[in-house]
Amino acid sequence: MRKSNDTAIINIPAVILMLALAGVMFFLSGCSDSETPLTPEFKTSLNEDEIRNSAFKPEFPLHYETYERNNETEIMTEYGGSVAYSKHDNVNPLPEGYKYAQPYLKNLWLGYAFSYEYRAARGHTYALEDIMHIDRLNRYDEKAGLPATCMNCKTAKMTAFVKEKGDDFWAQDFNVLREQVDLDENTIGCANCHDPRNMNLRLYSVPLTDYLASQGKTFEDLPRNEKRALMCGQCHVEYYFLDKEFGPAKKVTFPWAKGLDPENVYAYYEDQGNCTIPGFEGNFVDWVHPVSQTPMLKAQHPEYETWSNGVHGAAGVTCADCHMNYVRMDGKKKISNHHWTSPLKDPDLKACRQCHTDKTPQFLKERVLFTQHKVWEQLLIAQDISVKAHEAIRLASEYMGEKPADYDALMIEARRWCRKGQFFWDLVSAENSVGFHNPTKALNTLAQSQQYSQKAVDTAVRASAYTIAKDIDGDIKTIVPPILHHSRELQMDEEHMKSHPWFKYLPVTPKAAKIWDGVKRIGPEI
Ligand code: HEC
Ligand code: HEC
Ligand code: HEC
Ligand code: HEC
Repeated sequence: MRKSNDTAIINIPAVILMLALAGVMFFLSGCSDSETPLTPEFKTSLNEDEIRNSAFKPEFPLHYETYERNNETEIMTEYGGSVAYSKHDNVNPLPEGYKYAQPYLKNLWLGYAFSYEYRAARGHTYALEDIMHIDRLNRYDEKAGLPATCMNCKTAKMTAFVKEKGDDFWAQDFNVLREQVDLDENTIGCANCHDPRNMNLRLYSVPLTDYLASQGKTFEDLPRNEKRALMCGQCHVEYYFLDKEFGPAKKVTFPWAKGLDPENVYAYYEDQGNCTIPGFEGNFVDWVHPVSQTPMLKAQHPEYETWSNGVHGAAGVTCADCHMNYVRMDGKKKISNHHWTSPLKDPDLKACRQCHTDKTPQFLKERVLFTQHKVWEQLLIAQDISVKAHEAIRLASEYMGEKPADYDALMIEARRWCRKGQFFWDLVSAENSVGFHNPTKALNTLAQSQQYSQKAVDTAVRASAYTIAKDIDGDIKTIVPPILHHSRELQMDEEHMKSHPWFKYLPVTPKAAKIWDGVKRIGPEI
């Protein structure tokens, strides 16, 4: 099929190529991979319900040693790495901010919890600690303002929670869970992916199990390679919380019934919610942006969807191939590396060079960066036009002059483009590879985002009888400055709330003291 020559980027050994082709065959035919070896089975002394990470340490000391490397939190790559910097802050140097930050995140998510704090991901061992300290969950009130569902992707204790409460689990307030988890024992670990008795791959995830059932599939019957990718697909996906008319309230659900691409997911959300705002009836809506009054969607890290039909995904190269490549421990044993991080942190890029044997680390790194630089450039443009869309709609909605006859319809149309444009931008922005997992789809999605958001601007201009055209003509940075500082505490401060023109669309919240510090109650019960 492909011959190695001087111009080809890669030269994959025949064995790997055959595996890759076998991968393509599964996708095309859905047949089983009886020829590939199975995941090795073990006999442990653990029982089926074991969820404590420490219980696995004596059984698998070498795996555990690689798992503990997830605590590394200082090494960066050009775009990724393991420092949990603030994703909107391109002013402060690390660890607080980074050159590749998008300055408008707080503007675009204004009125939604994401505008208070949003950080880059770090290792799985921090998952519980980080969720306990994030400002998105309200720690100044008994109620976090977000449901227990948020816990779904942070701990294997979900199996115990769901066993105990069933579908009543999801809609509880998150803060009731703070005192119910142990940060080390329960952070993402062995029982999220393995049956403790024999270490077979096993799903803990309710939404993924539900989705597979809706497709007439069961996890146990899938080929090994699909299982390996779906382990990560339990969490590294776009998801939403059900409106109560559609099933158990706030239950986490994957919006994949129409397909995994941005158009499919956007179409899915069109009739899966209880929105009653004219023009958006029946839509699923995460929040209404206070400046433009647009019913919005917030995207979450769709790594699985993005990867699925990229160059590697289509060839059956899974997450585990690049993020869990075999390593030799004790100088001899080959095991799957359980340090899930950027493959570029390894200066030798060993994960990539299992297959790309004839390429230097430098060459491969440059190919990744080539994609990431191009995607980043378009991401920033898409972000800017999204901000312009909100501002144009705001101006058009405050326009008091003589309006065109179809003003109301135009305003709905403008908001619809604004919602769609921002969602498409967000699907690439929230995806953690800056396009590498699927360069073609990432760039296409951003091109669509730019077009949709520009249509929002143009439609709002038309609704204002073209009167606002001059107000939104020019560099968005001077028209709407980025909001660099905002938090729950700052929203209680009247002076702060005068510091940006968009803040006047938000309420100043009553002064309150912190009740929670992580998993500890520090304020009296109210
Ligand atoms: C996010 C999912 C995930 C978590 C969490 C996880 N594993 Fe794994 N594990 C995998 C995958 C994927 C494989 C590869 C399976 C395959 O190749 O078929 C694997 C393989 C293994 C194997 C088989 C031998 C090998 O090295 O390939 C053992 C043993 C193992 N893991 C132990 C552990 C232990 C111990 C923990 C907790 C410290 C853990 N795993 C946590 C996904 C996970
Ligand atoms: C139970 C949910 C869950 C599963 C399963 C899961 N992840 Fe994660 N992953 C997370 C969360 C949450 C974070 C961010 C943690 C933080 O920042 O505190 C994360 C972070 C990461 C990071 C960033 C690490 C860094 O150094 O910056 C990588 C890479 C990653 N995951 C890869 C994987 C891969 C590959 C798999 C499958 C083998 C997987 N994850 C399975 C939830 C999950
Ligand atoms: C062909 C190899 C490859 C495959 C397959 C792959 N990734 Fe990646 N992944 C990468 C590279 C390269 C990056 C960019 C890392 C960087 O910028 O430092 C990345 C970045 C990430 C990050 C962010 C890491 C960071 O440091 O910020 C996460 C999370 C992640 N991938 C998860 C996944 C998941 C989940 C899958 C499967 C659905 C997957 N990856 C499939 C190579 C791969
Ligand atoms: C398990 C094997 C495997 C691993 C691991 C792997 N690749 Fe690939 N890579 C492939 C295959 C297969 C293709 C598609 C080749 C084709 O069909 O031309 C590919 C294609 C590519 C391409 C060309 C992309 C394009 O758009 O045409 C680049 C660049 C690349 N890989 C980089 C990487 C990097 C960087 C890593 C590590 C983070 C990596 N690969 C890991 C198998 C692998």
